[in-house]
Amino acid sequence: MNTVLITGCSSGFGLDTARYFLDRGWTVIATMRTPREDLLPPSDRLRILPLDVTDAGSIARAVAAAGPFDVLVNNAGVGQMSPLEGVSMDKIRELFETNTLGVIAMTQAVLPQFRERGSGVIVNVTSGVTFQPLPLMSIYTASKAAVNAFSESVALELAPLGVRVRIVIPGRAPETPFGDNARARMGLNIPEPYQALAAQMMGRFQAGGDITTSRDVSEAVWRAATDPACPMRLPAGADAVARAAAV
Ligand SMILES: NC(=O)c1ccc[n+]([C@@H]2O[C@H](COP(=O)([O-])OP(=O)(O)OC[C@H]3O[C@@H](n4cnc5c(N)ncnc54)[C@H](OP(=O)(O)O)[C@@H]3O)[C@@H](O)[C@H]2O)c1
Repeated sequence: MNTVLITGCSSGFGLDTARYFLDRGWTVIATMRTPREDLLPPSDRLRILPLDVTDAGSIARAVAAAGPFDVLVNNAGVGQMSPLEGVSMDKIRELFETNTLGVIAMTQAVLPQFRERGSGVIVNVTSGVTFQPLPLMSIYTASKAAVNAFSESVALELAPLGVRVRIVIPGRAPETPFGDNARARMGLNIPEPYQALAAQMMGRFQAGGDITTSRDVSEAVWRAATDPACPMRLPAGADAVARAAAV
């Protein structure tokens, strides 16, 4: 029996990934900033634990309460779309605390048990914007590109210890509440000189084209967790696959 701990399971990719692993017989430790028992089907293989990846005490308590597990999925993240001039340094720090330092802190917290056992997999969920730069996304892109770079480097030092690190890179998934959550948390401030560009970007998003679904991401996380031959960077979703091929 295998066990996975997933961050950010209150909605979107994290919630679907928890369901996906449960359906395949795994024990799932679904973590949330605000735990809710009603989101996932009841199961004796499911545990819901509180976890805020920006809080060292919360990380230590969650990892201790979880006990041994085989796979860590660093999925928790927050979006941000704004010209650089429209976002405060406080909000920029908040975004990096979650998207970048949260991943690093979680990885550090699980390493002792993975190293001692000589096995374990860490799957980091980043973003297809790291394949193709877009305007108004500089902070979010930087936070995720840092995780790509971190993952590829730390993977080299952990491989000899039997610990695998993989990156799942989703494309744009309008089905999740990611955009609404980003606006609620980060605000939306488009100073006048950038409004035409913002309108152009919104039009581009609404024009359709290939997208990513939560299921694409769950399948990619599953492959990253279970297939030792999985590539280091695994695009998830038709748009991300196309962008990866064009790089
Ligand atoms: N949707 C997309 O278009 C897209 C595309 C590429 C990559 N991604 C990435 O995929 C991941 C999941 O996104 P999603 O689309 O599923 O969005 P989502 O529905 O907004 O889910 C984000 C999750 O992260 C959690 N979270 C935020 N800050 C946290 C913190 N400090 N500690 C612990 N959990 C925290 C949220 O919990 P709360 O409910 O408590 O805030 C929520 O459960 C993110 O890393 C995102 O950057 C998304």
